[in-house]
Amino acid sequence: MKKTRLAVFASGSGSNYEAIAKACSEGLVNAEVVLLVCDKPGAYVLERAKRYGTECFAFNPKEYGSREAYETVLATMLDERGVDFVCLAGYMRIVGKVLLERYERRIVNIHPSLLPSFKGAHAIQDAVDYGVKLFGVTTHFVDETLDGGRIIDQAGVVYEGSDIEELTNIIHGIEHKLYVKTINKLINNKLL
Ligand code: GRF
Repeated sequence: MKKTRLAVFASGSGSNYEAIAKACSEGLVNAEVVLLVCDKPGAYVLERAKRYGTECFAFNPKEYGSREAYETVLATMLDERGVDFVCLAGYMRIVGKVLLERYERRIVNIHPSLLPSFKGAHAIQDAVDYGVKLFGVTTHFVDETLDGGRIIDQAGVVYEGSDIEELTNIIHGIEHKLYVKTINKLINNKLL
């Protein structure tokens, strides 16, 4: 059976990218990551991608006139590579109209909270500050709003300690499994 073609968009460390690439290489998902897009040319995710032999496109958004301009370039790259789904994995930008229209219901994201609670870049810290005890992770379709769009999967964990680093590691571990589960659903057409 033909492998599903994934693109991963990331801005930072890329542990979720690596979890996806590893699951592909181990045959846990019938897919391959055909492109890694990174908007931070020095990000560690690019090192990880090299190790997996994934083609990378690193760009500086400031060198383009607008979001539309760089998304048009990205959309062409995705089209040329026959990408089926785009997985955002710590991509610190809002996705605009150009990509959303071209890849409608084919762009997903992972977020380290039980959405719709704690949207934004500091979800784990915000939840801790709020006194949360039930933490979690959400995968969802992407729309034009920050961490918005229909939820696909969620997983929760009770944590009553006070070590944010430990909690962050626990949450990342959950993310890596949940993203693979969600990608399998996408591939097997369980969501459309
Ligand atoms: C993850 O917590 C993800 O949920 C959020 O950004 C973080 C990226 O981590 N959207 P990594 O770069 O995949 O390690």
